[in-house]
Amino acid sequence: MDIGYTEAHLRAAAVDAVRAPSLHNTQPWRFRLREGGIEVLADPTRRLPASDPSGWAVRIACGAALFNLRMALAVAGRPARVRLRPDPAEPDLLARLVPDVARRPTPAEQSLYAAIPRRFSNRLPFWPDPVPADARWRLGEAARGEQCWLELLIGVSAVTAFGEIARGAHRVLERDPAYRAERVRWLREEPAPDGVPVSAGGPQSEPQDVLPARGFGGRDRAPGRDFEPEPLVGVLGSAGNTAVDQVIAGQALQRLLLAATDVGLSVSLLSQPIEVPTAREQLRLSLGRLGTPQMVLRIGYGQPGRPTPRRSIDDVLDLPVVPA
Ligand SMILES: Cc1cc2nc3c(=O)[nH]c(=O)nc-3n(C[C@H](O)[C@H](O)[C@H](O)COP(=O)(O)O)c2cc1C
Repeated sequence: MDIGYTEAHLRAAAVDAVRAPSLHNTQPWRFRLREGGIEVLADPTRRLPASDPSGWAVRIACGAALFNLRMALAVAGRPARVRLRPDPAEPDLLARLVPDVARRPTPAEQSLYAAIPRRFSNRLPFWPDPVPADARWRLGEAARGEQCWLELLIGVSAVTAFGEIARGAHRVLERDPAYRAERVRWLREEPAPDGVPVSAGGPQSEPQDVLPARGFGGRDRAPGRDFEPEPLVGVLGSAGNTAVDQVIAGQALQRLLLAATDVGLSVSLLSQPIEVPTAREQLRLSLGRLGTPQMVLRIGYGQPGRPTPRRSIDDVLDLPVVPA
């Protein structure tokens, strides 16, 4: 008889799950084992009240962690069947994974899994080399494979129009002292298990930049120079905007990030135009899409960098207390 997943499965897969991206690297997730199922929970103590009042960013991050869990379990030969928000009485319980029929991992699962430890947010300027059509196709396929869509902005005018929306949203957010204080609180000058290290922050922004940078930046930059010639910008969207849709979008985001890593591309995320409702609606209208934009990605060929720290696995597991 199959007893389901074990603590050993959970521990091994959680190492990969925590590599997911999260707003300000808050890592707002918990994982637990219940009756042979692995469960993913939002950690409300790690939600950012000013930057993420609705919990959207928590659900995106947990969806991304869930995708890594799925890949880890598939590659271990124990793929999962997933139910999202299985218990209305427990809204923080975002997903429950139970073992599906054991099988060998597919080549796609293997290559996505192998990309997990290599992925990181690359905020440095990208090289001018265009992203070829087959790589663009793979990114779109990653989004569609998780019931989402990816719209790539083609041409200078589309990117410039998007830049205006994004910079407007950035200005709105920056006016809020609580939002600014949160960003500063999660910036890390010294080694730490969470938050954004200054070394990962990217260069200082300049008034002529097309896209707004979040302001983790520490690195100096020659004044007056363009950041990069013409970034490839993609908007990831989902069919709706319920809590379940946001967990779905988080999975699509991670699949897309891993597919990008697999084909040698770098990505950084830009969520200011998603966080401001009027900007998000403007963005949706400018794309002429049904559904809801859930994340904006800057995609290109990047300079080397390195993954950021994570908390220890023991800090994110809820395991039953064994009586002495
Ligand atoms: C919902 C969400 C929103 C994010 N928004 C931004 C953003 O606006 N700007 C940015 O530079 N990074 C953004 N990030 C990336 C995180 O800062 C990053 O994932 C985190 O610092 C961990 O670093 P890593 O991606 O290198 O693992 C966002 C990530 C998530 C999940």
